[in-house]
Amino acid sequence: MPHTILIIDNDIEALRLIGLMLKRKGYNIQTASSGEQGLTRAIETQPDLIILDIMMPGMNGYEVAKELSKYPSTTNTPILFFTAKDTLPYKIEGFQVGGDDYITKPTHPAELTTRVKALLQRTARQQKVAVQHGKIIAFLPVNGGTGNSTLSLNAAISLNHKDPDKKIVLVEFKDGSGSLSLQVGNSTTRGLQELLTQAPPQLTREAIEGQMIHYSTGLHLLPATTDPAGTAPLLTKDLAASLHARLTANYDYLLFDLPPSVTPPVSELLQQADYILLTLAPDNITLTLAQKMLHQLQKLNIREYKIKLALVYRAHTASAITHEHIKEQLHQDILGSIPPVPNLAQESWTTQRPMVTEYPTSLLSRQVEVLVDDILEQL
Ligand SMILES: Nc1ncnc2c1ncn2[C@@H]1O[C@H](COP(=O)(O)OP(=O)(O)OP(=O)(O)O)[C@@H](O)[C@H]1O
Ligand SMILES: [Mg+2]
Repeated sequence: MPHTILIIDNDIEALRLIGLMLKRKGYNIQTASSGEQGLTRAIETQPDLIILDIMMPGMNGYEVAKELSKYPSTTNTPILFFTAKDTLPYKIEGFQVGGDDYITKPTHPAELTTRVKALLQRTARQQKVAVQHGKIIAFLPVNGGTGNSTLSLNAAISLNHKDPDKKIVLVEFKDGSGSLSLQVGNSTTRGLQELLTQAPPQLTREAIEGQMIHYSTGLHLLPATTDPAGTAPLLTKDLAASLHARLTANYDYLLFDLPPSVTPPVSELLQQADYILLTLAPDNITLTLAQKMLHQLQKLNIREYKIKLALVYRAHTASAITHEHIKEQLHQDILGSIPPVPNLAQESWTTQRPMVTEYPTSLLSRQVEVLVDDILEQL
């Protein structure tokens, strides 16, 4: 299929000439004669490459590039700035706002077409690498005891039911007193910590899989140790990166049950995540902590569209704050909410059998299923 190129330029003659030239080379061409129009068209039609002028009345090229980076459908679209602005500061700004290449007008047609071709090839190579990698869904609690492990475990099982052909791994990141292995009635593995206490730490595929609980076909769990003393040495940023690289090459979905503290290894994992579900209880203290957590994510330059909220109600209460208030305070959408099921949760904790497995038609299981559907839609 021919590639589609969107040209955004207020100079109608330039639009026509470049369009014609590239059309002759076999590309599909779309044009827009203003920044605003170009932005709308790019989001709607998702071209393979955008040729963008800088000086335009209204929204200029830099502003268009910045806006494009905010939308999931256009954040990775390559941008080639094509402009009469030929001095260094303009070029630097072009790359800073997300440009992938920069050519100054006038140019030889052969240069333009060569650069377009090279940029499309580079993008195709990157996409090929990207599709080989598993998707990462991070469950990040705002504070401890929220029900984050329960939610991520039940979500992993639900995802496994939905897509039994996919390889899923759920990793519990906790420095000690992990609950994941106990929640599925298996306390024989020391999980992640066993790998880290080796000298040097063992993060080969065999070593990692040796510490996993193989819960069902397609679903594998790498729990944290149940030992309250945890272990030394702890997971470092580099080890987190190696573990992530190893898992992402071998699994389709990586679910991370994270702790509420954004330490260097946790930031590393968050930066790699395709999707972050912030889990929180609907109360005022949690709301304040959630604001701080979101601020922290912003400092890590994590794109806003990757973050959504999941409310976990662990008890029936008349004092829970409303969804509207939470949305207003946190400026984030609520993806879903988990209902209070104290009896079921207690039962599942005692029998060490997850709720989605044991009570597949319960309200909780249905809500988790909806949440998983919504996550998949966002990925
Ligand atoms: N929807 C729910 N309704 C009622 N109780 C729940 C619900 N979800 C979880 N719980 C209970 O809350 C407790 C804490 O759950 P869980 O261990 O999943 O939380 P956590 O956020 O992982 O805690 P930690 O910070 O210790 O890792 C457990 O006893 C669990 O059974
Ligand atoms: Mg937990």
